[in-house]
Amino acid sequence: MHTTDLDLKELFRGERQEPMGMVARSLAMRQLIDLALRVARVDSTVLISGESGTGKERVAGLVHHASSRAPGPFIAVNCGAITETLLESELFGHVKGAFTGALQERPGLFESANGGTLLLDEVGEVSPAMQVKLLRVLQEREIRRVGESTTRAINVRVIAATNRDLAQEIAEGRFRMDLYYRLHVVELQVPPLRQRREDILPLARILLSEAAARLNRPVSELSSRAADQLLRYHWPGNVRELENAVERAVALAQGGHAEVEDLPEEVRQAIPVPLVTSPVKHLEAIEKDYILAVLDLNGGNQARTAEQLGIGTATLYRKLKRYGMTRSACPGALRKQA
Ligand SMILES: Nc1ncnc2c1ncn2[C@@H]1O[C@H](COP(=O)(O)OP(=O)(O)O)[C@@H](O)[C@H]1O
Ligand SMILES: [Mg+2]
Repeated sequence: MHTTDLDLKELFRGERQEPMGMVARSLAMRQLIDLALRVARVDSTVLISGESGTGKERVAGLVHHASSRAPGPFIAVNCGAITETLLESELFGHVKGAFTGALQERPGLFESANGGTLLLDEVGEVSPAMQVKLLRVLQEREIRRVGESTTRAINVRVIAATNRDLAQEIAEGRFRMDLYYRLHVVELQVPPLRQRREDILPLARILLSEAAARLNRPVSELSSRAADQLLRYHWPGNVRELENAVERAVALAQGGHAEVEDLPEEVRQAIPVPLVTSPVKHLEAIEKDYILAVLDLNGGNQARTAEQLGIGTATLYRKLKRYGMTRSACPGALRKQA
């Protein structure tokens, strides 16, 4: 069975080219999804790397659902969450009496995922002994239940995910190079959200309508100030953090709009950080951007802005005058003139 181009097109919803509801407005994300869809056509092992909350599991699901294995199971196992012994019986299964508490024979996840895809999440956390076992499974394509001497063939596509830098882990002797090469036949690197800012608002809008439906709240939009604030924040927890921030805003919103005040403290406090990747600006321009952003954050309140910036109100007034801002300017007007 092959996934045809037609099938792939059907995975995209609407003109926005969002396969399976995955937001990918940025070039980086579109390229990543394109690569994911191409690798879905073959059975190669895939390594998905990226910070926590960037969407690694989501990308793994996309690879599975765009592959000929889509009718089969997609199973994810978090290798970092359980002890080595438990992980072994979880993955490979065990026979009755294999260890204390093994009251019944049980197949492992490799067997449960037969005909489908198994995601080994947080593979960088796996112990050296377990790494050897995984390497053997990937090479031999067969497993042995704990306590059993016979092997069983498996037909599973393996995807591994990690938020660690595996090359670094290898250099420091914590990860086997041979396993690394087995896993990263193709590597999909999911960029952090702060490096694909075009995705922030489209994601926020989808997450907002999902949260509104889930919480049964009549919140349909982000106010423009709230949207600006989402763009300023650096999102260390990536899409997962955005999801939580938006859910909070939906829960607290008073009307049909989620406002800045409804966002979590750290997001509300965010001030624009000059990106190292953007062209270097004059300090004066940065000062201006910064001052206007803080003023905007304070809803145009100059006294509070001056206090937060640690300057006198007269100094702030002088600077605003130089920028062509008037005392009565509202935040929206400030932005337009800026
Ligand atoms: N591109 C995306 N479009 C829509 N939702 C996304 C996207 N990326 C991540 N998410 C959502 O963000 C959350 C975190 O994603 P997840 O795949 O679990 O991240 P990771 O595995 O990298 O920690 C999930 O709820 C997921 O559905
Ligand atoms: Mg994950």
